Amino acid sequence: MAEQRPIVTEKQSDVAIVRITRPEVLNALNLATRKALAATFTELQDDPEVRCIVLTGDEKAFAAGADLKEMVDADAVEIAKRRTERYWQAIARTPQPVIAAVQGYALGGGLELAMICDIIVAGENAQLGQPEVRVGIMPGAGGTQRLTRAVGKFHAMRLCLTGRPISGREAYEIGLVSLVVPDDEVMATALKLASDIARLPPLAVTSIKEAILQGENASLDAGLALERKAFQLLFASEDRREGMNAFIEKRKPQFKGK
Ligand code: CAA
Repeated sequence: MAEQRPIVTEKQSDVAIVRITRPEVLNALNLATRKALAATFTELQDDPEVRCIVLTGDEKAFAAGADLKEMVDADAVEIAKRRTERYWQAIARTPQPVIAAVQGYALGGGLELAMICDIIVAGENAQLGQPEVRVGIMPGAGGTQRLTRAVGKFHAMRLCLTGRPISGREAYEIGLVSLVVPDDEVMATALKLASDIARLPPLAVTSIKEAILQGENASLDAGLALERKAFQLLFASEDRREGMNAFIEKRKPQFKGK
């Protein structure tokens, strides 16, 4: 029997929902799923109606990591030739904010995928971790890098070296996720955040995202310069004038994305 589509995309007004749909393997990320995610995000980047994206799985799993059945017989050359980083780069390059809505397992490549997103909403009982060490490998798509930047050396070492997952609640306490909510409120919370963001002036939103991400890898001086230039450039936008005038005239702003 042919496998169903590995992801499904739905649009709710100006928010796109991208759902990983391989429940029979806890949304393990095989190559077909990675390619489908990259193609979908590349398409959404060019859709001016999409202002924010929610990436999710189902109640049991966001994604339980790379598909181990596709890795078990691969050698180092085969793994290198797959160049799977290009699929995640397509997501990382998305200018609109991406919110990961995480219920259940977000393990290995699944947590790495969540960490590529800009905001993570997790359920109290989600299980987040980097278990690669337990199968003789190590994180290969950000687990030693993005995780360390998010939570610092000592939590990253504990997670990567033991492979033991932590709950959504603990992930929130160490700064790995933006919000923790009861499990059955994850999607509603992520969608509310997304629609709030979608209503804000898109040029300001995408400039903020760009400045935070670019600044993470720059010196403070370079980051501040980049922020200052982006701030100055926003004064060229119609939405900046509309936002400020609406405030002064005590009315609701009408943003146009210009
Ligand atoms: N790859 C392939 N199949 C997976 C999978 C994965 N990562 N995770 C789960 N599955 C499959 C299981 O094989 C099982 O399939 P069958 O019914 O055909 O046996 C099905 O999903 C359900 O899983 P379990 O029966 O194991 O469910 P459980 O509730 O007992 O345990 C779990 C859940 C703790 C998440 C467990 O499935 C597990 O440990 N999975 C592997 C997690 C992991 O090691 N992830 C990291 C992968 S390496 C990686 O991610 C590297 C990278 O990107 C660079």
